[in-house]
Amino acid sequence: MATKITNLNRMLALEMGRVTERAAVRSSLWVGRGDEKSADQAAVDAMRKELNVLDIDGVVVIGEGERDEAPMLYIGEKVGTGKGPKVDIALDPLEGTTLTAKAMPNAMTVLAAAEGGTLLHAPDCYMDKIAIGGGYPDGLVDLDATPAENLKALAKAKKVDVPELTVCILDRPRHADLIRAVRECGARVTLITDGDIAGVIATTDAETGVDLYMGVGGAPEGVLAAAALRCIGGQMQGRLVTAVEEQKVRAAKMGVKDFNKKYTMGEMASGDVIFAATGVTDGWLLDGVHHVNGGVTTHTIVMRSATGTVRRLKSFHSNIEKFG
Ligand code: FBP
Repeated sequence: MATKITNLNRMLALEMGRVTERAAVRSSLWVGRGDEKSADQAAVDAMRKELNVLDIDGVVVIGEGERDEAPMLYIGEKVGTGKGPKVDIALDPLEGTTLTAKAMPNAMTVLAAAEGGTLLHAPDCYMDKIAIGGGYPDGLVDLDATPAENLKALAKAKKVDVPELTVCILDRPRHADLIRAVRECGARVTLITDGDIAGVIATTDAETGVDLYMGVGGAPEGVLAAAALRCIGGQMQGRLVTAVEEQKVRAAKMGVKDFNKKYTMGEMASGDVIFAATGVTDGWLLDGVHHVNGGVTTHTIVMRSATGTVRRLKSFHSNIEKFG
């Protein structure tokens, strides 16, 4: 019988942090160089190499794309030595390729591991998302409620007025109405150019000033964000946006039956899950990779849903050649 991931995930959690660290260090060499592809490739290469030395029987369920279009870390690719527990791997080797290329905040390398069959197999399409941090009654905000209703409910629960709330939204033309509606309620909007996994997780940390995340971003990023909130606490809902037939076909191929379904956080990541991320550039959650004193420093967060442990690891690596 396969070893249950919970028996091993204490060790696996730290190993996952090593994987995201190495990917972050490699992609950090491309920060500010205007070359998104090379930055991403560096992270993919490092992540794949490090995953493949782990004693896991892993399969990528959220990855760099489908087999025919993504040569590495494609959906369905086996990773690990094959000797350990069966785990589903969800990854975004470089979340924020443009942020990296332009040396802007919040780029990070991201990985989640979960018991087989417990992560939503999200196709490469958009997802409409809403998220808040922990400590609120279930269902306080809802994807189907208006921005005004959600803001009112959150303000009441926080015992503040709506104008004291800040909503994080991706800066995209598709969000013009949403941004207007939030501002008409009197709330603030923090616009991000990319990186909505960080945007969602920001709701869990009072220091970021973000109270609520709303809007449409990548579906794979939605599942990774849900995995993070499962560990750190919070609420999230997501609905796939399958606007064109081709996306419906892809979604159906990945097991999606109801294209209109509103997924709760627990439906997107239903089992024990481990989440790890390392900063590439400085951001809300993590410092980026800093090249100092002949080596590099990295900042990594590793969390487990089974225990709710959240570890932040500051590391110094004296010899980055070995990360190649
Ligand atoms: P990349 O790292 O692949 O560039 O994605 C960054 C990102 O901003 C995600 O965080 C977000 O979910 C998605 O892109 C939004 O997609 P789009 O740029 O098409 O609006």
